[in-house]
Amino acid sequence: MESRPAGGPWTGRAPGRVNLIGEHVDYLGGVVLPAAIDKHTTAAGHPGASWSVESLVQGGLAYLQAVGEELGVAPQVVAVTSDVPPKAGISSSAALMVAAAVGLRPDLDGMDAARACQRAEQKATGVQVGIMDQFASALGQRGHAMLLDCTTLEYQAVPFPEELAIAVIDSGEHRSLADTPYNERRREAEAFDPRRRRHVDSEIARVHAFVYALGRRDFNEVGRLLKQSHASLRDDFEVSTPTVDALVEKAWGIAGCYGARIMGAGFGGSVLALVDRAEAKNFAMAIGRPVLMCATADGAYVAPR
Ligand code: GLA
Repeated sequence: MESRPAGGPWTGRAPGRVNLIGEHVDYLGGVVLPAAIDKHTTAAGHPGASWSVESLVQGGLAYLQAVGEELGVAPQVVAVTSDVPPKAGISSSAALMVAAAVGLRPDLDGMDAARACQRAEQKATGVQVGIMDQFASALGQRGHAMLLDCTTLEYQAVPFPEELAIAVIDSGEHRSLADTPYNERRREAEAFDPRRRRHVDSEIARVHAFVYALGRRDFNEVGRLLKQSHASLRDDFEVSTPTVDALVEKAWGIAGCYGARIMGAGFGGSVLALVDRAEAKNFAMAIGRPVLMCATADGAYVAPR
């Protein structure tokens, strides 16, 4: 990617992400399987006397300022547009920060940009997030999910089958991560609490089984793993809510739905369902909640192919 002289106007665009499986394991060095999606945030800016942001969504300033500090750039006047809904579990904050990073520093290596945005999110929110969201937003690939090893940061593109539709269902329970026990769960898992670790170990095994099942196009097995993941997040990691549990169970019962689970940090947010593409419209009608149908997309630091 071409580098541009600093100090002039800039524009950057970055996608949100879904996580197919591998939840609450990134900050413990586990493997995850996110995908960048075709919902994007665009940030456009130019240098100014102090940081400012114009956006329909509140709260972006702290993120942008933190990214700016990580990237070592002077204050900017920024305008943001986005079709990544905030607080819904598809990483609107990662999309915003990676959009600013790629606009301000297109010359960076995508991995370094993801690391800078992870640090910026931790600073801006006090939430000790892992690297999954920023990494997927920076380096995901259209047509693929990303199998990411959060210890080595080695990653591999895993072809995502055309036959599956990715449905993201809004639970209606919106939250900021800073208001959730995310840090507490992280501490408990790091302290080897047996139940929390049972989730982590079983979830990592499910990621590998999921990749194998996707490769064989064994969608029933893919769905079974999603259901197991939900049960583990609900019972062992305790990051679900009664509203989300009810929505997940409703999704499981709809024709064409292979499986569904709570997605992202949890404590509300969104449910991910993988649905037979031919049944996607019926599924969206039957679930009775707003649904975003998502396709995989390229990350911000991936050159157009
Ligand atoms: C949030 C964090 C990620 C990850 C997920 C849970 O999305 O930003 O780093 O920990 O929660 O898997």
